[in-house]
Amino acid sequence: MRTKVKAHTNIALIKYWGKRDERLNLPAVGSISLTLDALWTETEIEFNVRFKTDRLILNGQPATEKELRRTSKFLDLLRQRAGLSSPALISSKNNFPPAAGFGSSASGFAALTVAAARALKLELSGRELSIFARQGSGSAARSIFGGFVEMHAGRLADGSDAFAEPIVPPDYWDVRLLIGVTSQVAKKVSSTAGMNLSKETSPYYQAWINAQPVDLKTMRRAIEQRDFEQIGQLAEHSCLKMHALALSSNPGILYWNGVTVEAMHSVRDLRASGTQAYFTIDAGPQIKALCLPEDEPKVRAMLESIPGIQQVISCAPGPAPQILEVE
Ligand code: DP6
Repeated sequence: MRTKVKAHTNIALIKYWGKRDERLNLPAVGSISLTLDALWTETEIEFNVRFKTDRLILNGQPATEKELRRTSKFLDLLRQRAGLSSPALISSKNNFPPAAGFGSSASGFAALTVAAARALKLELSGRELSIFARQGSGSAARSIFGGFVEMHAGRLADGSDAFAEPIVPPDYWDVRLLIGVTSQVAKKVSSTAGMNLSKETSPYYQAWINAQPVDLKTMRRAIEQRDFEQIGQLAEHSCLKMHALALSSNPGILYWNGVTVEAMHSVRDLRASGTQAYFTIDAGPQIKALCLPEDEPKVRAMLESIPGIQQVISCAPGPAPQILEVE
């Protein structure tokens, strides 16, 4: 009952922000993402009746009580489905620095879901795996698949229609996402806390929910047609709308630093000079630039020339989770 799985993180091009149900972690809006090859989590899990309790090792160190509780609670869902109660030993490591601006939650919960399901001998479809992963973290549901992926908000109270699925095959189209690291400091407001505050206090929250279906439809079509300009324009728009919600919460949440803002201008300046580059930013200060493979050197050079950018990480489309070992 031991399995090792590698899962990749993803970047949302149409952002998820807001929950319709907290207990089941149901998103208030759908989202569209790109799974990334360069950033991943490897998770090994062993269920054993002889273990007394769950134990969790993160990047070689014992996890905090809070992290262990969240993981155990999540594993209980899969144990319940399997009709087993054996405790687990989980060891998980990320290949990316925390400063990359990706919490480990997307790749982490995707890897844990696939590893635990396999170790518990559950035969689950991609849809079922994404429904489980969503209960660990909303963005993790999308990391169950490679390439361009859509997460559905769904309407049902039990969450059975809130799952992710691929829009096109994983190797449909080669694009690049360059991450410019602007700060190593952990964010002050988690995405979960930020989303809840926006729902309670932003006067724009309902407008955000109402506009999302059109953005999703337009993005889906742009991906199918490989319309890079449309994808980029819309990704920037969705990012700025999500940050407008954060900013208009009370108290306002400001995820950017000065370098983030400089970089947003630089991406637009490069675009004005004829290179197709577009930015997106998550709940943190790192800048992420989307471009075509042939423009990667130019976009990298632009990001590297901005004072305050500490490191640039290049990503291409990544695959679905892979089972590395089974015993
Ligand atoms: C800004 O998936 O981390 O990255 O479901 O509460 O765990 P929880 O939130 P999480 O939120 C991601 C927010 C985002 C946008 C996105 O990835 O769609």
